[in-house]
Amino acid sequence: ESAKKGGFRFYMEKEIYEQFEVLKENTLGRNTKEGIKFEEVDKKFFEGINNIIISACGTSYHAGLVGKYLIERDAKIRVNVEVASELRYREPLLSQDTLFIVISQSGETADTLETLKMAKKAGLKTLALCNVDNSSIVREADKTILLRAGIEKGVASTKAFATQVMTLWMLSNYLANKNEYYAINEAIEVTKVDTSLHEKIKRLSKRYTKGHGFFYIGRDIFFPLALEGALKLKEISYIHAEGYPAGEMKHGPIALADPDLYVVALLSKNILFDKTKSNIEELVARDATVLTISSEYIEMTDDFIRINETNHPMVEFFEMMVITQLLAMEVAIRMGNDVDMPRNLAKSVTVE
Ligand code: G6P
Repeated sequence: ESAKKGGFRFYMEKEIYEQFEVLKENTLGRNTKEGIKFEEVDKKFFEGINNIIISACGTSYHAGLVGKYLIERDAKIRVNVEVASELRYREPLLSQDTLFIVISQSGETADTLETLKMAKKAGLKTLALCNVDNSSIVREADKTILLRAGIEKGVASTKAFATQVMTLWMLSNYLANKNEYYAINEAIEVTKVDTSLHEKIKRLSKRYTKGHGFFYIGRDIFFPLALEGALKLKEISYIHAEGYPAGEMKHGPIALADPDLYVVALLSKNILFDKTKSNIEELVARDATVLTISSEYIEMTDDFIRINETNHPMVEFFEMMVITQLLAMEVAIRMGNDVDMPRNLAKSVTVE
């Protein structure tokens, strides 16, 4: 068993460390100097598409939200991201100029699969971003782009999420005829886990096992990353955590701020830096305990983790992603939990 974990304490830890290799695999032959290439789809498949609906659950849903920011901004195609269990029963208006994308690690999530069937029945083109070939979702979808994350054992998804976001980034480039070859490679590079950073996070984690809850805050693509960071922590540490848009804290949640409220602030240097910084200031002024993750040092918060300087927000995204995964894991390990088998959760939810 321990050999299978490759010397790591948990599969989750192994999978976090694997992300660098997995992302290389995910982008192999797809991210090229001449632009994005997908063997699985061609430009014709996207003809006549004016809208995109993304349907998914859990972590895959969070990846979808990142996709919305990227695709709308770069490809100028309207994107709606839907939680599959809601979409399924709300009698949505589905028009045939809409591409229906489902995102799923397992390819077996019941609600996601049902929305896919619903979209097909309505005559929409369907595309699956999935990690398991020959799964129910792959068999049902018109086209599939495989995530190539390898088998993911940890119930809390890490490397699959990384490949989902990366695939959506490539898809956005593809649809926009944009070439970010070097930025994509840079983003892969920063997922290589730095062991001294990991040690720092281990030390930091002792401060974050108490309190009355966490907020993860960020703007733009860092908002879905905040949702995902909070979900990771909830899943394995059983501590209450919420992801929130940084600018929305003042509309309610800031009432919770006191020294026992922990905030993880995802402070991008490239997107809305000053605005996010002033949101952090507001929380500091109300005595919340704040950990900032940024390439730009800010003195005012209790803890600070520095990421590399870059001028691409997606590079920041991937580096922050790894940090939030390690933080959730270290807090949970410190609390004595089995991070691979969190209570009450299943890796794949094939029933409603
Ligand atoms: C379960 C897992 C999550 C996952 C979600 C969606 O809840 O515990 O980690 O994100 O299902 O799964 P899928 O396989 O469709 O991505």
